[in-house]
Amino acid sequence: MAEESFVQLRVEDQTAILSLNRPKQLNALNRNVLSELGMQIAMLSGRKDIRTVILRGEGKAFAAGADIAEMQELSAQQAEQFARMGQRVFTALESLAQPTIALVHGFALGGGMELSMACDVRIAAEGTQFGQPEVQLGVVPGFGGSQRLPRIVGAGRAMHLLLSGERIDAQTALAYGLVTEVVPGAELLDAGLRYASVLHKLGPVALQYVKRAVYDGAELDLARGQALEANLFGLTFATKDQREGMRAFLEKRAAQFRGE
Ligand code: CAA
Repeated sequence: MAEESFVQLRVEDQTAILSLNRPKQLNALNRNVLSELGMQIAMLSGRKDIRTVILRGEGKAFAAGADIAEMQELSAQQAEQFARMGQRVFTALESLAQPTIALVHGFALGGGMELSMACDVRIAAEGTQFGQPEVQLGVVPGFGGSQRLPRIVGAGRAMHLLLSGERIDAQTALAYGLVTEVVPGAELLDAGLRYASVLHKLGPVALQYVKRAVYDGAELDLARGQALEANLFGLTFATKDQREGMRAFLEKRAAQFRGE
């Protein structure tokens, strides 16, 4: 019998839905899960028929973090390699040309919260608990949390969450700007597909360049960031989508973007 995969892929309305599938361990991220996730991401990269990517978890949690049972006996060197592995996979996720949406429910703790933060947008189910509890295990985040969290919610809030290890609920996450929307659990997938359908009406090239402007720009000083923005702005004018978008506005009709 074929082994069941830890990351399942299905495609619906041009959206790839990646589901973490290790529900008995609350989708704890071990090497196998990370490696399968990395392979799925690599396969989605460059697929023009996939316009958005949704990441979600099977069972009662999005993901309760890196696998503590697998980590506990790691040497310092092995732990660093494990962190680098997770970071590589999450960076590949962030680097996808397509917009990515994390649908978060139950728990998004440690590596689970870090995974959600490697997506472009997060939508949470009511009752979801977010947190970076690594300090409670005597360690620090290893999958990018200490870097992405302050970029998303600001240094003050990030420092509070990272130092205390305290969990916040979905409403607080909304107030922090960590999630864009909180919906009843039963409506989470629909909310994600609805968000995706809004993006599908837009030009994929412009969306890809927005991602580059934001992520690459975050590494630059203001002058260089603005130079990057001007460059990307210019590149959009080399697309048919720019002609179509502006013409459609002036002709008072909906634009038909083709990603060209
Ligand atoms: N690693 C391994 N196993 C985990 C896990 C994790 N991160 N989180 C949950 N599990 C397992 C539990 O051990 C349990 O397994 P058994 O049934 O075999 O005992 C199963 O999943 C169900 O979990 P609980 O019985 O604990 O469920 P609960 O509803 O009582 O509690 C919870 C849920 C509050 C999320 C609790 O499971 C918990 O605190 N999990 C750990 C959260 C955590 O500390 N995450 C950070 C990990 S470190 C990290 O992520 C480092 C990094 O940045 C790379």
